[in-house]
Amino acid sequence: MDLLIGTGNAGKLHEYEELLAGLPVRLLGLKDVGLGDMEVAEDATTLEENASLKVQAYSQASGLITLADDTGLFVDALGGEPGVYPARYGGPGLSSQQRRQKLLAALDGRVEAERSARFICVIALANPRTGRTETVRGVCEGRIALAESDGGSGFGYDAVFIPQGYDITWAHVPLAAKNAISHRGQAARLIIPMVRSLIEG
Ligand code: IMP
Repeated sequence: MDLLIGTGNAGKLHEYEELLAGLPVRLLGLKDVGLGDMEVAEDATTLEENASLKVQAYSQASGLITLADDTGLFVDALGGEPGVYPARYGGPGLSSQQRRQKLLAALDGRVEAERSARFICVIALANPRTGRTETVRGVCEGRIALAESDGGSGFGYDAVFIPQGYDITWAHVPLAAKNAISHRGQAARLIIPMVRSLIEG
């Protein structure tokens, strides 16, 4: 059985390969089903609505059971910014590193205790046969580092996010440990039984 992950982001697809390893499915990314160029307008104001918009578009276009997620990054000292559109933070055309630098600049002068933040991930699951969509949500608390960490791995804001209980950024936390506590990991564990009942039903 194939399960489409509605992402073109190789880092995210790799995380899902680990997270869903126990499911009897073959994971496909958008490029694998010829949808690598498909744009879905994510113009809603909640993570649930945006994840649902994406998953419905991709499952209808592919005819496959599909997962799609939408993640927000909420920094308390910035009134909840970057919010539901972290990939757009700082304006159009910036690289991920430039967005990280914008975030650090916005928190300039704030001490560690004032840098609390959380990632929230909503995963939506769509059944193309019924058109039915379900969503789950995972949250990971942490803080924004004082500076970007060098080297390491990951994507997006990994090099500036320190999860609760750690003093290193996610860029330096091994993927298995990240998945055990991350917003996406928590949401994935909630969606696994729902995927299982869809493919078995
Ligand atoms: P998306 O909605 O999952 O595409 O996430 C939006 C943006 O949030 C991404 O472009 C990343 O910049 C950021 N993001 C999402 N998940 C993570 C993560 O696990 N680590 C770092 N950044 C993330």
